[in-house]
Amino acid sequence: MKSKKLAGEKAVEYIQNNTLVGLGTGSTVYYTIVKLAERVKSGLNVKCVSTSSSTTKLAKELGINMVPLHEIEYIDVTIDGADEVDCKLNGIKGGGGALLYEKLVAKASKKVIWVVDSNKKVETLGKFPLPIEVVPFSYKQLYDKFYSLGYNPSIRMLNESYYVTDAQHYIIDLHLDKIENPYVLEKELKMMSGVVDTGLFLDMADTVIIGYEDEDKVKIIER
Ligand code: 5RP
Repeated sequence: MKSKKLAGEKAVEYIQNNTLVGLGTGSTVYYTIVKLAERVKSGLNVKCVSTSSSTTKLAKELGINMVPLHEIEYIDVTIDGADEVDCKLNGIKGGGGALLYEKLVAKASKKVIWVVDSNKKVETLGKFPLPIEVVPFSYKQLYDKFYSLGYNPSIRMLNESYYVTDAQHYIIDLHLDKIENPYVLEKELKMMSGVVDTGLFLDMADTVIIGYEDEDKVKIIER
């Protein structure tokens, strides 16, 4: 998709020499990683922290120097995708199942950039199902709780089995349609035992780069 490529590649301009970079997950960041690898081949020196096994595999194959999160103090800039972004630059992430590591990497970053195509920009969060990463041991109790609260849960599947995250958890997607107050919902969900994290990324993105299918330039929104 042209819009994803434009946004994904543009973000590489924010990466400075001799820095630590967080690499997100998904089809838009794919273009960031490929472009970054080109710059690395031409002499750019960076160390990168990955947010998923799929990103680690791709980045390593392309010759990018990877480092685990526990070996560093902070990350200079993280570039990641998003499933929805509102006008306050709050978003939903985790469509690709990497929400937990994506949030941990974002929290360790001085600057967070999201790269998205224009379809991801919304007035109100919630049309995209909100992923909740849960401990497998209590997934049924959590599913029932979400159901009783009217949150329309579904357990994420992969090839007729439950989808398992890189951290060995399950994901329950909440089909909410509209999230009136994401801060209240985040607090409520994080209070539930067995919830590891949610796909609500609030006050985390500093910059959003939006690509369009019918334009050759991107739109950049700063917090
Ligand atoms: C993965 C994510 C992705 O960043 C999100 O799903 C966007 O992906 P894509 O760029 O493929 O549309 O949160 O967990």
